[in-house]
Amino acid sequence: MDWEIRKIDKPLKGGLSVPADKSISHRAIMFSSIAKGVCRIENFLLGEDCLCTLNAFKRMGITIEISGNTVTVMGKGLKGLSAPKEPLNMGNSGTTIRIISGILAGQDFSAVLEGDESLSSRPMKRIMEPLGLMGTKVEDIKGGKHAPLRITGSAKPLKAIKYSLPVPSAQVKSCVLAAGLYADGITTVTEPFQSRDHTERMLEYFSADIKRKGLSTEINGLKELKARDIVVPGDISSAAFFLVGASILKGSDLTLKGVGLNPTRRGILDVLKRMNADIRIINEKGALENAGDIIVKYSDLFSTTVEEDEIPFLIDEIPVLTVAAIMAKGTTVFKGIKELKVKETDRVKTMIENLGRMGYPIREENNSLIIQGKQRKLNPVELDSFGDHRIAMSMAIAALTTGGDCRIKNTSCVDTSYPGFLSDLKKLSNW
Ligand code: S3P
Repeated sequence: MDWEIRKIDKPLKGGLSVPADKSISHRAIMFSSIAKGVCRIENFLLGEDCLCTLNAFKRMGITIEISGNTVTVMGKGLKGLSAPKEPLNMGNSGTTIRIISGILAGQDFSAVLEGDESLSSRPMKRIMEPLGLMGTKVEDIKGGKHAPLRITGSAKPLKAIKYSLPVPSAQVKSCVLAAGLYADGITTVTEPFQSRDHTERMLEYFSADIKRKGLSTEINGLKELKARDIVVPGDISSAAFFLVGASILKGSDLTLKGVGLNPTRRGILDVLKRMNADIRIINEKGALENAGDIIVKYSDLFSTTVEEDEIPFLIDEIPVLTVAAIMAKGTTVFKGIKELKVKETDRVKTMIENLGRMGYPIREENNSLIIQGKQRKLNPVELDSFGDHRIAMSMAIAALTTGGDCRIKNTSCVDTSYPGFLSDLKKLSNW
């Protein structure tokens, strides 16, 4: 599927509830499946990625009922999963394959995990290594430390380890913490910079024996989790496209409702505010995770420097923040961007390619992305998502500034996280 983004010359106006948080929806299914008791998940994200997680647990014997966007999971405890009869399909989802691997490490069966072409090219050594140290056999069936993977757990408890993550990755941290639930003793994970902490919060909420000390998290294994109901907030990574869109399109005035405001996810708000964006948060509240309404209006933006330790707080928002940087006066620098190269696409490459087609060069230098703002207008041209949902949506926002018609190719990937994106964009721009 392709999108035609027509010349609209209109601001973004009105109110919108963005789709549910993808990271929290994944974790809600995974940890409630291995908890004891029933968990009702309200406002679950019914996007393709989270459905891969949901179907994987169904295929391991967990009863999961879907009614509207409420999902009820009948958890069977740490050892309640059964061996899947066929390979489990992880689709496009890095979060699913990496965290589920930690859970499978603790089962006494073997399972094969396979994914699409993009997922099969993403690095898996980062989970193979710690799981190997904990005593699990993880095989890369076709080699190259990529999926498909075969994980063979064992009836014996795993070995508790002290592990320092070589990359600041919440997916890898969560994989080791999940495996730590099955280890005899205390497993410690230390990260180089703080990354999103949804796993730690959910494990605390489900009564795990978990302690946080600065950049380290300790989990004491072999203790059952207790299921509790969960309300998933809106995804700030989906709100990001409209936060930037409203900030750069003259006359915009939007209210984004019920957006997740976890401190380890809201880096985009800090960065946009530093760039002089007009952003206000109201009605902030929550239990497991905070949510609130964000009011955003057009404003003249100025450049900023985003330091390496901020990157994990906004890793998925860099493509759309690049569009904001183009519309800002001065030179914006994102430092320490190498993890961006191993996402659904190499996002440094796919952004440089698309913006190059629009006649706007940006450059990568010494692990930084450098954007000189307001050099020229973006030209209306044919763009490509290259199969990456966040590139498709970021380029749609860029296309709105061209004053012409753009086509974006290969946009069905948007169904992984935000199936209704184009219709929401049309609604808000009165298209
Ligand atoms: C995610 C963590 C991030 C992010 C991904 C979702 C998660 O990946 O890019 O979209 O849910 O834990 P890394 O932790 O590998 O950086």
